[in-house]
Amino acid sequence: VKTIKLQREVQSFYFQNRLNLNADICEVTLRPFAGEWVLYTSQSDAYIGFANTTMERPSFFMVKRISKEETKLYLEKDESEVASEIIKELLTKSIHYRLNILPYGEHARMVYGVADFLPGLIIDSYVNLVMVQINTAGLDRFRKNIEEILQKFFPSKKIFFLDNEQQRKKEGLPLFDKIEAKEALEIVDGKLQLEIQPSAWQKNGYYYDHRDNRLSFYQKLTDLKLELNNGLDLFCYLGSWGMTALKAGVKNFDFVDQANLKEQFDVNLQKNHLMGRGSFHHSDVFNFLDQKIREKAHYDVVVSDPPSFAKSLDKKPQAIQGYKKLHKKIFQVLKSSSVVCFASCTHYVSAQEFESTIMDAALSERKKLKLIDTGIQALDHPFVNFNDKSYYLKYFVYLLSE
Ligand SMILES: C[S@@+](CC[C@H](N)C(=O)[O-])C[C@H]1O[C@@H](n2cnc3c(N)ncnc32)[C@H](O)[C@@H]1O
Repeated sequence: VKTIKLQREVQSFYFQNRLNLNADICEVTLRPFAGEWVLYTSQSDAYIGFANTTMERPSFFMVKRISKEETKLYLEKDESEVASEIIKELLTKSIHYRLNILPYGEHARMVYGVADFLPGLIIDSYVNLVMVQINTAGLDRFRKNIEEILQKFFPSKKIFFLDNEQQRKKEGLPLFDKIEAKEALEIVDGKLQLEIQPSAWQKNGYYYDHRDNRLSFYQKLTDLKLELNNGLDLFCYLGSWGMTALKAGVKNFDFVDQANLKEQFDVNLQKNHLMGRGSFHHSDVFNFLDQKIREKAHYDVVVSDPPSFAKSLDKKPQAIQGYKKLHKKIFQVLKSSSVVCFASCTHYVSAQEFESTIMDAALSERKKLKLIDTGIQALDHPFVNFNDKSYYLKYFVYLLSE
């Protein structure tokens, strides 16, 4: 194992899951090959990790902190042996953590990148499939090992590799031939059982991240003794929010998504015994809301769970404007007594900034609010603190009153 000297102490980075080291922190004398596992040493600390210096922007990742005494041991070991041992240890630990979360069991995000000390690795496990995404050279070299470990944990499931083109290009990784899945993805999430055909899969297949918030929303809707007749699920994908609300007693829901999911939606409505209580609208959400505002339509419940509005920090102002615009329109279609859930998955917009977009919109629409629920991402998407790169999900529920 080669050594890379650190120019600074990085303990505080490590304990806050900031595993990505900058080029100026590392003093590289012996150049590692792409994805080579190395020993990082500083005055007081040592870490095993991997590096990729073949790209214009080199990447250096810490993975495991080791004691100064252990460094000698590692220096004598074979590089790939060290890598396979540590991958096995960390992967096993991540999977055990999820399997011990009572309501999730085998249906969860099993690995969430740096949050599990496995930078660039995302693994989602469903009823019949395990979806794997690898975006770093240090882990891509061990695809076979990862597959074998997963197969041992989930012998009856198919292991399926998905390439994220953009991320892989950044690390100079090849794109593998697309293997088309034949079967539908089967999903268990809270109160729901869902399926999605491969042609309609988004990202890793499904968004588990709001699962705990959905259950909390269900609880709030059942606790409040309100007469809730009609609801609206915006950016609905498979309709998980609206279907959960239907299960909580709302009579009917409109579901809106720009993706053509009508057929899939009907299958899932049936699977959940909700036939006749939901309509899917294949439309842009902003156009749909404008139409409803023109028609003077009003809802008892609205949920808004859009995609990320900013993929980089410089897009943050547009994201904030986007939320304000969206939230103003939503307030215009809410009844004077109603429930509204606003969600955001934009990492670059903080919870406070997101909350301000709701407050500004409520003020300009003259709405009186009570904040009745808030939430973060589910237990299988862990993070350390609100500045953590792995933190992104916000959930706010309000009661509107006259
Ligand atoms: C974060 S996902 C929503 C997840 C979903 N609410 C759930 O609980 O699984 C965002 C969804 O918004 C849809 N979408 C993105 N932009 C849209 C737009 N302008 N109008 C309608 N749907 C949109 C995407 O097709 C995607 O299904």
